[in-house]
Amino acid sequence: MELCSINGLKGTITVPGDKSVSHRCIMFGSIANGITEVENFLKGADCRATIQCFRTLGIEIEENGSSVRIHGKGLHGLMPPTDILDVGNSGTTTRLLAGILAGQPFDSKLSGDASLNARPMKRIMEPLTQMGANISSILRNDCAPLYITPGKLHGIHYSSPVASAQVKSCILLAGLYADTETSVTEPSLSRNHTELMLREFGADLHSSHALDSTQATVSLNPGRELYGQRILVPGDISSAAYFIAAGLLVPDSEILIQNVGINPTRAGLLKVCEDMGADITLLNEHTQSGEPIADILVRTSTLHGTTIEGDIIPTLIDEIPIIAVMAAAAEGTTIIRDAAELKVKETDRIETITDNLLAMGCAVTATEDGIVIHGGRPLKGAVIHTLLDHRIAMAFSIAALIAKGNTQILDSKCVDVSYPQFYDTFEELL
Ligand code: S3P
Repeated sequence: MELCSINGLKGTITVPGDKSVSHRCIMFGSIANGITEVENFLKGADCRATIQCFRTLGIEIEENGSSVRIHGKGLHGLMPPTDILDVGNSGTTTRLLAGILAGQPFDSKLSGDASLNARPMKRIMEPLTQMGANISSILRNDCAPLYITPGKLHGIHYSSPVASAQVKSCILLAGLYADTETSVTEPSLSRNHTELMLREFGADLHSSHALDSTQATVSLNPGRELYGQRILVPGDISSAAYFIAAGLLVPDSEILIQNVGINPTRAGLLKVCEDMGADITLLNEHTQSGEPIADILVRTSTLHGTTIEGDIIPTLIDEIPIIAVMAAAAEGTTIIRDAAELKVKETDRIETITDNLLAMGCAVTATEDGIVIHGGRPLKGAVIHTLLDHRIAMAFSIAALIAKGNTQILDSKCVDVSYPQFYDTFEELL
């Protein structure tokens, strides 16, 4: 994909359904009793991998545009897979599905693409093993492919070293099949879609926040059946993020993005934008299927640098590539720290962000747990090495819109992972 600078992005758009919520609809719908109807489901490659895995586990899933109908078979209705479960590029599919499979009376194998099979799985293998699960890394490198055989699960109280919704959700899903209560404490609250949605499906689940610290605990009591739901998936704030940044950075722009999920465990980007001096207004705030939603109005703004650290990091972890682009265009220095998790995403994002910003002429330094960006220098067009990371492709496509000269995004097709229509949405704003 070849891109160059533009002026005046104007219009009203919607972005596709939330990726995290879409995955969970398929998973929870499959192990619930009866039909789950989903509207505005994200048809990206990651969520399609989840659909395919559950079909391989014997679940009938009908698709009609962005509507999906899942014929759930209850907690104990999954069938032994006839094949290896292909999780593609999707960490969420792998880790959440592993939690469900740990509680099944049959063997299963999970494997993904080269990036997925290099991501750390010890973070789920350890707690699942403590629960009595039989899960192993086939190549003995603590990564997928994973092999899971039946085990008798018991509840544990797990203190997670990382604020990770994938780890938390994996343990809670295994907890549905345990004999006693399971709880997970994380150092700060990660996205809570599992908690919100599992409760809607009927699970006995409670969340609490320690008064004297940022720690968050969620507990689940097994024994209750889940029941099919109707779910309207909110627009994905992680996808809206690119158009928020485009509206702020491209001169003479005004963009209204409708129906975006603004769950506080996901909306750290909005706080950072405010800190950087962005002109953003939330309109029409309401709640839909238990999730807060708003329309986001963005106008071109002069941004300044900020410091992003601590508890806010899990609420914007997927937005750091685009925040880094905003920081490159802002006056002054932006410091991002406490974000070592970036190293274990689809790529080592500390490295991919830094290398590509350097290529565009930005003064940037990688640190052990983040990035320091000295903004304000004009960006120049460059060849962007996405390393097949969808969020790097989209973030640097926005950078290209304010750079002098042409920018080439290599392997731009990787946007299909979370936002297949990404480049089409631009057409609506020209
Ligand atoms: C996700 C959790 C986050 C996020 C990922 C989706 C989820 O990962 O980066 O894109 O749906 O639970 P971690 O839980 O590893 O932080």
